[in-house]
Amino acid sequence: MASLNDIRSTFLDYFAANGHAKVDSSPLVPRNDPTLMFTNSGMVQFKNLFTGAETRDYVRATTSQKCVRAGGKHNDLDNVGYTARHHTFFEMLGNFSFGDYFKDEAIALAWGLITKEFGIDPDRLLVTVYHTDDEAASIWKRVAGLSDDRIIRIPTDDNFWRMGPTGPCGPCTEIFYDHGDHIPGGPPGSPDEDGDRFIEIWNLVFMQNEQFADGTLKPLDMQSIDTGMGLERVGALLQGKHDNYDTDLMRALIEASAHVTSTDPDGPDNVHHRVIADHLRSTGFLIADGVMPSNEGRGYVLRRIMRRAMRHAHQAGAKDTVMHRLVPALVQQMGQHYPELVRAKSLIEETLRGEEERFRTTLDRGLRLLEDEVSAIPAGGVLGGEAAFKLYDTYGFPLDLTQDALREKGLSVDTEGFDDAMAEQKARARAAWSGSGEQADAAIWLDLADRDGATEFLGYDTETAEGQVSALVRDGAEIEDASAGDSVTIVVNQTPFYAESGGQVGDTGTITTSTGRARVTDTRKAAGVFMHVAKIEEGRIAPGQAAVLTVDHARRSAIRANHSATHLLHEALREALGDHVAQRGSLNADDRLRFDFSHGHAVTPEQLAKVEADVNAYIRQNTEVATRIMEPDAARDLGAQALFGEKYGDEVRVVSMGTQDGSGKGTDKRTYSIELCGGTHVARTGEIGAFVALGDQASSAGVRRIEALTGQAAMDHLRAQDSRMAELANLFKAQPDEVGARVKALMDERKALQNEVAQLRRDAAMAQGGEARDIDGLKAVLQVISGVSGKDLGPMVDAQKAALGSGVVVLIADTGAKPAVAAGVTSDLTDRVSAVDLVKAAVEALGGRGGGGRPEMAQGGGADIAQADAALAAVEAVLRG
Ligand code: ALA
Repeated sequence: MASLNDIRSTFLDYFAANGHAKVDSSPLVPRNDPTLMFTNSGMVQFKNLFTGAETRDYVRATTSQKCVRAGGKHNDLDNVGYTARHHTFFEMLGNFSFGDYFKDEAIALAWGLITKEFGIDPDRLLVTVYHTDDEAASIWKRVAGLSDDRIIRIPTDDNFWRMGPTGPCGPCTEIFYDHGDHIPGGPPGSPDEDGDRFIEIWNLVFMQNEQFADGTLKPLDMQSIDTGMGLERVGALLQGKHDNYDTDLMRALIEASAHVTSTDPDGPDNVHHRVIADHLRSTGFLIADGVMPSNEGRGYVLRRIMRRAMRHAHQAGAKDTVMHRLVPALVQQMGQHYPELVRAKSLIEETLRGEEERFRTTLDRGLRLLEDEVSAIPAGGVLGGEAAFKLYDTYGFPLDLTQDALREKGLSVDTEGFDDAMAEQKARARAAWSGSGEQADAAIWLDLADRDGATEFLGYDTETAEGQVSALVRDGAEIEDASAGDSVTIVVNQTPFYAESGGQVGDTGTITTSTGRARVTDTRKAAGVFMHVAKIEEGRIAPGQAAVLTVDHARRSAIRANHSATHLLHEALREALGDHVAQRGSLNADDRLRFDFSHGHAVTPEQLAKVEADVNAYIRQNTEVATRIMEPDAARDLGAQALFGEKYGDEVRVVSMGTQDGSGKGTDKRTYSIELCGGTHVARTGEIGAFVALGDQASSAGVRRIEALTGQAAMDHLRAQDSRMAELANLFKAQPDEVGARVKALMDERKALQNEVAQLRRDAAMAQGGEARDIDGLKAVLQVISGVSGKDLGPMVDAQKAALGSGVVVLIADTGAKPAVAAGVTSDLTDRVSAVDLVKAAVEALGGRGGGGRPEMAQGGGADIAQADAALAAVEAVLRG
């Protein structure tokens, strides 16, 4: 018996042998379609190839596409478990032609595969065509030899396939298998077509039109092919089963579910196992593609699926968390073709375990409340909206989980009452929020959040994505369009742009629609609505348009590196300085990072060097940066660093990186850094490249601040330092490592030279003459000396006095600026004349003031050197009495 894995390979190999490129499945979160919640058919990734907006190096392709139909327009969630063919996750096998072959070859290829490769009995096959498509009908006759009664014309949209309200579309032909008249049901188009006898196995779409939002349908330039065959369906057929859940792959998951709940796979719990098997697949693949459980958008759809499965596990008697124990079976069944499952295995396990642990804390009580309520409802009755809302709000029961639980009892929910209770709660939250007065124009963002929901952030996984413009806002009000030159805030339903928060700056980039382009200079958020602060550069942009959003890649990469380095820095500081170090603020910009932390003293250069070395060691360690979603308390138990005083919601994102030897923190002993953080990070620490701390400074009382650089900025900084050093070395004619010693030697030499110069000046001055004269019986040297400074005078006076033995010395220094005067009187003469009087006389004559000292030695300063001779004359007059 061919396994589903074999059948998938046969399909892909067949089309590869017929010239088709084997293309990998695209992610479940569509990057190129703003209107889709999840990828729901094989053509999604090729949408732009059909319209000609994009070309690739192949014109024929084949894929096995991961699809999820839950939460969005295509929602199969409610039926899963109860029918033979509903899934939230399934694989769509397809072949595609982009302007290459058309109806003829598509039909011939399909017929060849199913009748020859798959060996399906042609007599059991019949087809439908769109009622006006004579061409397809005649090809079927020619290629497959089908009689007219087995080519059924369908006049409805069942045979005109559209991916959505807009986009490529066209008539289609569907291939059906007749399971035989022992099974009830009629052929397609008949009143009892919904029976199980005739099962559609393949849909071939002749892509030839494009549908526009205004209702017009235009022919496409190219005629293309898009086909879709559900692997589970065709697998059931080929394995002789009537139920998709009886195929080998689904059966293996059902048995794994039975095993972990210690129940019989086929007994009364069978419906639980079917739900669990299906939901395990969608959960595993969604997490592998970057979706995390949350209370908004895609994350909430994932949470609903997970919690539904968990309730079924509980109903099957699970006493503990079990979902994560099924992941190995999933990976074993599907990991070979989808290696992303292997890569994400531990993340899937951990996310499931965390979610189940959390949900189990309220599940029991919620179910008891439900039991109580139900006991008061008559058979076939309705559960009140208030009760359903309480289950939702207090016990974490998504509405559809409650509906699912009631379905088993034949009861339903008053959904209007539920919506009213929800609306009331929103109104209360809104009153509380606008009361905080955070933002002057808060009202508009609350209105937009109410009307369109929160913006979905895709930027953890991608830097470019399509979104739909939901509003343009200027001066706190919506506007209808914006054109070149206008400044406007653009709101979209989903975006890869990070909105400023947690110290990380908002992203910049471009938003392009079919009619215009805007430059985004900042991104912020309020009430969950992302505001792309932009200027229209070209054309015009209007609400309702599809837009391609592209984040500036280099800038985001630099921001990411800085943010991850901040986490490493935080931990390195705690290790170097102590556990009192707590984050007080941070900035993660593209050009630098800044980290403020509690610490009472300056960080010493040695401590800073150690911190820098530690951060770089963890960068080189190049470990994966892991993210998980947890409850704040669980995260703190793990040892996660949280921002002091910050209020966290019910759930937090926990970012961890680095592996250390020795004793770690909390339960996760070996993880180096664990922080609560909503920011964007590198995938591996090695991407940070390098880390340079620029120094530590005081920020405020008890708070220090470190600024640092990473990656190219760090390298540029080091290079600039190096160039300066090379310049210096060059000046000193030394090797860079000798510069320090050379500077020290030069400074010593300078000091010695200064001393020597002073001595030489004094000697030179002494040599300028200094003949003693006899004035009134005293030996006196009265002299003006140039080329010396005031402070040289003292020693010179002393030297002259010594040479005289007994006498008087008065020197005036011509310093080039203000003249200085010093006078000396040998001690044997101080009762006749005081040096102070001599200086005073000279200073006065020089136009100065004061001057003083002792009778043996006095000093002063003048103003005008031109009066030097007059000053000496005044001194002489004093001596002559
Ligand atoms: N896109 C087509 C479908 O989903 C093949 O049925």
